[in-house]
Amino acid sequence: MSTPPTQPPSDWNAETAGDQGTLYGHDGPTPTVLERDPEPSVGVHVGHLTAGSAGSAEVLSVEGLTVSFPTEDGLVQAVRGVSYTLHEREVLGIVGESGSGKSVSSMAVMGLLPRSARVSGTIRYRGQDVLGMSRKQQRALRGRKIAMIFQDPMTAMNPVYTVGFQLAEAVLSHELMPRKAAMARAEEMLALVGIPQPKARLDSYPHEFSGGMRQRAMIAMAVINNPDVIIADEPTTALDVTVQAQILEKLIEVKDAVNAAIVLITHDLGVVAGMAHRTLVMYAGRPVEVGGTDDVFYRPRMPYTAGLLGSIPSAGDTGRLRPIGGAPPSLIALPTGCPFSPRCPLVTDVCRQTEPPLAPTDAADHLAACHHWDRLAAADDPTAFFRPELTGLASGAGEIR
Ligand SMILES: Nc1ncnc2c1ncn2[C@@H]1O[C@H](COP(=O)(O)OP(=O)(O)O)[C@@H](O)[C@H]1O
Ligand code: SF4
Ligand SMILES: [Mg+2]
Repeated sequence: MSTPPTQPPSDWNAETAGDQGTLYGHDGPTPTVLERDPEPSVGVHVGHLTAGSAGSAEVLSVEGLTVSFPTEDGLVQAVRGVSYTLHEREVLGIVGESGSGKSVSSMAVMGLLPRSARVSGTIRYRGQDVLGMSRKQQRALRGRKIAMIFQDPMTAMNPVYTVGFQLAEAVLSHELMPRKAAMARAEEMLALVGIPQPKARLDSYPHEFSGGMRQRAMIAMAVINNPDVIIADEPTTALDVTVQAQILEKLIEVKDAVNAAIVLITHDLGVVAGMAHRTLVMYAGRPVEVGGTDDVFYRPRMPYTAGLLGSIPSAGDTGRLRPIGGAPPSLIALPTGCPFSPRCPLVTDVCRQTEPPLAPTDAADHLAACHHWDRLAAADDPTAFFRPELTGLASGAGEIR
């Protein structure tokens, strides 16, 4: 059996374990939709909205976050005005296609953006200004109060150290305690995430774990310091469908055990349907729809969301479901007006001229960035707009391919 090293490695920093995760999402299979936990008894608040009763403390607030990257080809406007507020124990889903700015906005919250990034806006953790903190203060927050789970645990775990050692280091980098006690906590966490024979598994190397087990170990690493916020960036995308569902279930169970709130990032609307209290849909770096998950699912008010809904496979599909045609715009040369206009079946001249603001729709806590949300509200099946053969509606400037 392998023995964990006794000295901390010189080339590895537990504070930044997980920092190396991929910035780019990959499409993958759709997991089974899970039962969602009941709404928290506390107020749930996104952006400037509050739903439910007040009373729960706000842990994270992001306001007007913009991130751009100067590149040789021009300025990449990766995030253009993201705002949300997360309360204790809340699950917020952030959904959008690959490249919509989901990872960059969470990297900003974690203070993990490359130095070239231009960041503005406000990020507050329990009222403290995160962007104004020194790198050292940000490091102290990261991993301890705000933890991150990445899509691919192999990029976040060091292959040459045992899982137990890495978990213990994650504790010791934030807390003074004997290594033996840190190892005991590591074992406890492996048990919590459902790894059988946790004591023996402390001595395993990451490659000795299956993909699902590694992702469980990543969840253990994320919660080992009792964080208030877990940012899970496509945590199950790399796994096969049955394992995805088990891991998501475990994530929610563990989040409840440590009383954390979650920002669950995914390209897959089916994942948030089962888990998130509220959902924020991103397109081309901007939130384009925000609301209670049921509102977003059953009463979408932005055509992009309706298009995503129409592309979720479900039991009894007749083959009519289809992905949204076309591709997202270049973030270096965004079109004038609504960035979804080249792909939108409801596009009109005003859409091509003016970018719609994110504004309340028929419910005050359900916002959409669309000039014509009322047309979706009036439709029996908003996803039908993406099936022109059913509605006779021609698509806009872009084709629905
Ligand atoms: N360091 C960087 N330099 C330039 N562009 C970047 C950098 N990091 C991310 N981007 C761009 O920002 C956009 C948003 O990326 P990302 O947040 O990773 O998308 P996703 O929604 O898939 O997580 C993408 O177009 C990506 O290419
Ligand atoms: S503003 Fe116009 S183009 Fe944009 S989503 Fe709404 S209807 Fe479509
Ligand atoms: Mg991503």
